[in-house]
Amino acid sequence: MNVERLIAEAEIIVVCGSGGVGKTTASAALALGAARRGRTACVLTIDPARRLANALGLEELPDEAHEVPLPAGGGRLFAMALDAKRTFDRLVEEHAPTAEARDRILRNRIYGQLSSAMGGSQEYMAMERLFELHEQGIYDLLVLDTPPSRHALDFIDAPNRITRFVEGRALRTLVEGGLRVGGLGLRALGQASLVGWKALERVIGVTFLSDLTEFLLAFEGMYDGFKERATAVRSLLGDRRTVFLLVTTPEREPIEEAIFFWQRLVEAELPFGGVIVNKVHADFLGDERHRSPAALRRAALAQLAEAGLEASVAGRVADAFLAHQVLVERDRANVRSLARRLGSEPLLEVPYLDGDVHDVPGLERLEPHLFATGA
Ligand SMILES: Nc1ncnc2c1ncn2[C@@H]1O[C@H](COP(=O)(O)OP(=O)(O)OP(=O)(O)O)[C@@H](O)[C@H]1O
Ligand SMILES: [Mg+2]
Repeated sequence: MNVERLIAEAEIIVVCGSGGVGKTTASAALALGAARRGRTACVLTIDPARRLANALGLEELPDEAHEVPLPAGGGRLFAMALDAKRTFDRLVEEHAPTAEARDRILRNRIYGQLSSAMGGSQEYMAMERLFELHEQGIYDLLVLDTPPSRHALDFIDAPNRITRFVEGRALRTLVEGGLRVGGLGLRALGQASLVGWKALERVIGVTFLSDLTEFLLAFEGMYDGFKERATAVRSLLGDRRTVFLLVTTPEREPIEEAIFFWQRLVEAELPFGGVIVNKVHADFLGDERHRSPAALRRAALAQLAEAGLEASVAGRVADAFLAHQVLVERDRANVRSLARRLGSEPLLEVPYLDGDVHDVPGLERLEPHLFATGA
């Protein structure tokens, strides 16, 4: 994988993978690397855990772009935590036919519930915001850090989902169907003149029904705008300016998830950039690897004794070293099998660093590995 070229050519990088593999860290490091190479980069997160703020050494991240101070020269780095509800509000503001309709929707209780509770809304809103920021053209590169990939499919499906939501098919069918029986259209809902309507009111409550009516009426003029927008978002995600990167650790489960995700990306014809295998245990043995554990232990003990370490401590160090080597072998086997399954797709190994990555200098330690040209 040639990350150098990737960040030079892509305008949007979407970073996906399962929980805890290093998506946030990789996203921040990619954006930082781009900034250090003279680009204006922005890293966005929808991770409620505030890990991005953490990785960048910031106290908190607002919904607006926040500039991250960089040590020296180059371009600029910004970071942003996305607020799904606010993005949705902005969409309504943009697409509402009149100021009055806009206010009616934003104040509406059902809208309030739906906009924050709708499944996949976070994912869609992230894509929506990505689109918006891309349109603004302020940044050369946008890197989106996503939540763990059990939501992966939501991302890919998000634009379709939002279309279904704004069409409100289920709700509309329900209400209109009921009214058609009484020979009335949707607008009659507001008049509360139906006998059945009265009965319904008693059961569900007046405010709920008037909220629902108002919501459906207010949304009527917006379907086309929303649908058009969802189509535009989908096509931006699918075109050459965007690239999806998968992150995994060299362990069985996250690798299976990465493979699954990769296949879904290919099926959905979304641009796949490769897999970053993060936290690979470094092999300190090199050519010595063929030696038996017992021989290795003896050699390690001899060297430790030479370095003046007391025998009991040296024994424990040698054991820890051998235990580490077991992980090295496991990682090697898993990476090899992953590479085989990916065929010619790009793959990049990033070592397990000692110490967490929680500030810009920490990310800089990661950078040479990330920007190295992999197999
Ligand atoms: N190469 C690495 N070496 C050592 N530690 C790392 C490395 N990459 C990430 N970490 C550490 O692993 C932890 C998880 O990383 P991170 O938060 O980036 O994962 P994530 O995939 O975004 O997690 P989540 O799915 O919860 O969002 C962090 O404490 C981070 O500092
Ligand atoms: Mg994260």
